[in-house]
Amino acid sequence: MQYESDLPAVTVENLSVKYRTVLESRPTMKSALMRLGRPQQEVKYIEALKDLTLTVQPGEFLGVIGHNGAGKSTLLRTIAGILPPSSGRVQIAGHVTTLLSVGIGFNSELTGRDNIRLGGLANGFSIKEIAEKEDEIAAFSELGEFIDYPMKTYSTGMYSRLGFSVVTHMDPDILLIDEALSAGDASFRDKAAKKIEDMMEKARAIILVSHGLQTINEMASKCLWLDHGKMMGYGPCDEIVGAYEDFVAVGSSSIISEEI
Ligand SMILES: Nc1ncnc2c1ncn2[C@@H]1O[C@H](COP(=O)(O)OP(=O)(O)O)[C@@H](O)[C@H]1O
Ligand SMILES: [Mg+2]
Repeated sequence: MQYESDLPAVTVENLSVKYRTVLESRPTMKSALMRLGRPQQEVKYIEALKDLTLTVQPGEFLGVIGHNGAGKSTLLRTIAGILPPSSGRVQIAGHVTTLLSVGIGFNSELTGRDNIRLGGLANGFSIKEIAEKEDEIAAFSELGEFIDYPMKTYSTGMYSRLGFSVVTHMDPDILLIDEALSAGDASFRDKAAKKIEDMMEKARAIILVSHGLQTINEMASKCLWLDHGKMMGYGPCDEIVGAYEDFVAVGSSSIISEEI
């Protein structure tokens, strides 16, 4: 995809995302009789993102932090184009690859190697190009002979390692990673962190969601802190991570769990 070099890699303007959920409330005997057995349903809207505006410039590495349910994954899904905005707008300049959560996009009946090939095709590579990348991806994932086993035989960590290996070898302009490495072991996490750093030279922008505040601080050039779908802070990582740590009011030693 062609893009103008001065365009932001990612533009998010007044973005709001609402999920519609249908709750089945537990019926009482009387209400069940009144409705003649039809289920009682209640529609609820969850505002996962509220009026978010930000831009990620070429060369930027944005770290996203916040409590569980803050809206981090929703933001990545919306930037990836998987989830439509309820209002506002998202614009991206470049080829996006995403590692949204462990194993999404894989077919567990197929082998790891077949899934590498499918991932390559889905990302627009030719069969010849995929053949050239395949062994490198397999080696990076450290799956050994399991690469030729169906993925349903994999552990979560193995899924996660293959997912990371595939997306990082697809030469993305914009790489979105959502806490994908928490399942890997420590040595793979180090290797993955190094790989992400290497990619900064080629990729146009990276957005990483992580609970590893130290990782965000070390790797990201800018930081976004979300709380209940709202932007609580956006700026230099040391400042934002510091404010977040103060906010959750726990000692920094306990919160630096090295999970990226
Ligand atoms: N598919 C969904 N349907 C309904 N609500 C959802 C869905 N996915 C996420 N949510 C809700 O949206 C909010 C933000 O979720 P999420 O983006 O997953 O947060 P985070 O990644 O920061 O933990 C939460 O309240 C969550 O319960
Ligand atoms: Mg999440």
